[in-house]
Amino acid sequence: MSQRTKIKALLESEQTQIEVTVKGWIRTFRNNQFIALNDGSTNNNLQIVVDFENTDPSLLKRLTTGAAISVVGELVSSLGKGQKVEVKAKQIEVLGDSDPEKYPLQPKKHSLEFLREIAHLRFRTNTFGAIFRVRNTLSHAIHTFFQDRGFVYLHTPIITASDAEGAGETFHVTNFDITNPPKTETGEIDYKQDFFGRATNLTVSGQLEGELGAMALSDIYTFGPTFRAENSNTTRHLAEFWMIEPEMAFYDLVDNMDLAEALLKFVIKEALNKNADDLEFLSQRLAEEEKQKPQNERSDLSLIDKLQFCLDNDFQRLTYTEAIEILKESTPNKKKKFQYPIEGWGTDLQSEHERYLVEKHFKKPVILTDYPKQIKAFYMRQNDDGQTVRAMDILFPGIGEIVGGSQREERLDKLEQRMDEMGIPKEELWWYLDTRRFGACPHAGFGLGFERLVLFVTGMGNIRDVIPFPRFPKNAEF
Ligand code: 4AD
Ligand code: MG
Repeated sequence: MSQRTKIKALLESEQTQIEVTVKGWIRTFRNNQFIALNDGSTNNNLQIVVDFENTDPSLLKRLTTGAAISVVGELVSSLGKGQKVEVKAKQIEVLGDSDPEKYPLQPKKHSLEFLREIAHLRFRTNTFGAIFRVRNTLSHAIHTFFQDRGFVYLHTPIITASDAEGAGETFHVTNFDITNPPKTETGEIDYKQDFFGRATNLTVSGQLEGELGAMALSDIYTFGPTFRAENSNTTRHLAEFWMIEPEMAFYDLVDNMDLAEALLKFVIKEALNKNADDLEFLSQRLAEEEKQKPQNERSDLSLIDKLQFCLDNDFQRLTYTEAIEILKESTPNKKKKFQYPIEGWGTDLQSEHERYLVEKHFKKPVILTDYPKQIKAFYMRQNDDGQTVRAMDILFPGIGEIVGGSQREERLDKLEQRMDEMGIPKEELWWYLDTRRFGACPHAGFGLGFERLVLFVTGMGNIRDVIPFPRFPKNAEF
């Protein structure tokens, strides 16, 4: 294997006057002389200086945007602006040509919508290179955070027979010929004959299985894909998204909130430390985008300031009931500016309400607790007031809900009663109820939507731009 040095290492190199081999893709080739080469290791390009007078013209013609090349040359201090070093090429080999007439990525600004249509190539842009390096750092940081605290990474199933959230938004998994599935005598689809001998679906959450693990291993976390067939065509929803779900035995809701806040702060800090160049680039990108907006909609903080601000401030904690009071009295509510006016206690909060609390009222991340039981899942611990449950949602600026979690109902009678009230079939969840029969204990957990986290840290506006190949209604290309 040839010795090849990544561009990130070369740009940071203290040593010059050494021979190096670099490989990457041409971003631009100016004046038949200067190649901007990128290999994905950093947002910054390496300048390759071509001795065009002594280079075969037919080779020069093949040095086009998008082509893959291998260069052997000397690393030298650069006289040019914007870079410390450059490579004086001795030998250039084209590994893969790229026809400039046909290559869809031109060296100019493309719209995010257009880039979504060519998602197979968008990794090659500055914006998407930065996004996916940040995504990688965040993903690694999540594992580091939990591993350092002795949590066990648990792989919960992707195919399951349960709908953990009970929201009926599952994708079916079947091996039937869907044009002609076997039927029972009464005319219903006979799932007994299906692959698993029962109806199955893709998981919406690994929580219920995660709880089983926590009831023996104490502290577990999942980090995997989850699937929701909710037909919401928004900038915050995907049909396939990655979720991190820790579950902790002997934790109450306050412990749960403390852990979630520490996790978010840790991973944001890791991104600031490890992806300074990428975040600087994304920060400038966002500033450019904000210039298109009217003055009153622009943010006073840059992306990096926003991230730093999250680290420096305690998240504001308050109950749902307190939040409703604030929202009821708020100017947009009184002036009928909310699309969904706040009429009273008990309704679910819309993202406009969440964002008002975070962006206008408290101006920092908010944790809302103790929601009405009728708008939350069956497994949340019931409070003594008979009205609310020990839920918590973390709300972030520009995002709305980033984390949803709760202390779990560990009392068998209370849990069964709630399942009956909500029409959740107890027979099917016999294994879940068993943990409340044998050695039940107080426990809590939460789910962090990974793409919402990446959205926040990169300052992007659409969740479809922070996952390599987004799945959403009417789209499963690539
Ligand atoms: O609030 P949710 O539905 O909670 C659960 O699934 C619990 N079982 C979590 C737990 O307690 N273990 O989802 C958790 C988070 C949300 O706060 C949001 O960040 C993200 O998952 N999320 C989505 N992200 C992208 N696209 C979607 N369609 C999402 N739905 C939820
Ligand atoms: Mg939720």
